[in-house]
Amino acid sequence: MATRKLLLLPGDGIGPEAMAQVTRLIDVLNSDFNAGFETQTGLVGGSAYDAHGQSISEEDMKLALAADAVLFGAVGGPKWDSVPYEVRPEAGLLRLRKDMELFANLRPAICYPALAASSSLKPEVVEGLDILIVRELTGGVYFGDPKEIIDLGNGQKRGIDTQVYDTFEIERISGVAFELARTRQNKVCSMEKHNVMKSGVLWKEVVSATHKAKYSDVELTHMLADAGGMQLVRWPKQFDVIVTDNLFGDMLSDVAAMLTGSLGMLPSASLGAPDGVTGKRKALYEPVHGSAPDIAGQGVANPIAMIASFAMCLRYSFNMIEEADRLEKAIAEVLNDGLRTKDIMSEGMNEVGTEAMGDAIIAKYRALAA
Ligand code: IPM
Ligand code: MG
Repeated sequence: MATRKLLLLPGDGIGPEAMAQVTRLIDVLNSDFNAGFETQTGLVGGSAYDAHGQSISEEDMKLALAADAVLFGAVGGPKWDSVPYEVRPEAGLLRLRKDMELFANLRPAICYPALAASSSLKPEVVEGLDILIVRELTGGVYFGDPKEIIDLGNGQKRGIDTQVYDTFEIERISGVAFELARTRQNKVCSMEKHNVMKSGVLWKEVVSATHKAKYSDVELTHMLADAGGMQLVRWPKQFDVIVTDNLFGDMLSDVAAMLTGSLGMLPSASLGAPDGVTGKRKALYEPVHGSAPDIAGQGVANPIAMIASFAMCLRYSFNMIEEADRLEKAIAEVLNDGLRTKDIMSEGMNEVGTEAMGDAIIAKYRALAA
């Protein structure tokens, strides 16, 4: 059995509690199903800063680059609000994305039938929702130069961020979106702001050209990103795949997350380009929810986004499709059974903590495999 090398970076806040459920699941996959996962654990974010003054160490960066996949928990919290900007917790995550060249961020927003009532929108608007946001992750305003605050010398300062996209970056991210659309409903909606931004004009142009050259079988539409946000809360089921830049993708994916009932439900995969020799992509999997410092350490965090991120890891990094399907089914069935963590609790359901939710999903996984 080939070894499958995973680097675990639990991070801060609820990251470690959520990751602990995945660690237990990995142990079961190894012991009962001979999966051959080998894990190492590193530090990222505030916990890395506390240990060695950096948001991720050079050693852990090396481990991340050598691993078949990285599982990431969450970073940040008020404890590190005043650390220098360069070593703030988020810098560790941004460095991982940049150095591993994880340009494609896949954020599925699926509304489990059992949770349609927990969304802030009407059940009929979200029931059965299954959309995928493909967010560009290594370019745009997150990384563009200059990025600085300058002193204008007249008592004023100027804060500058630079939104910049090159043709190849738009081509490759739209290629990922079109390819994925072909495995789904075959529809892509591209979102930008070409009415005010030059990078938006180029974005629209390159997405259209890529479509025409290689993917004309896929249905392509364009929307201004603000209108796209509005349509997402008005009638989200009109979308299949949404492709958008780094900043719009950050915002729109939080909006999409809330459609599904809770931010605690959403997994994500960040993928690099396929290696020319092995065809394997570098990859990092993380829940969208963040570190939730207000509930950290209480054992009440929802581990589903973390576990579903591991399901994406099985699917995209190890081609373990059957196992990924089974794990996703286990999550859906546990929800059908009425189990809820605090964030998705509703009347008549059974509220459980992080570990009990982990236990239930693992037990269900085993039962489904039997
Ligand atoms: C996300 C987060 C990050 C981002 C932060 C933690 C840097 O909000 O993954 O959506 O802005 O990309
Ligand atoms: Mg975000």
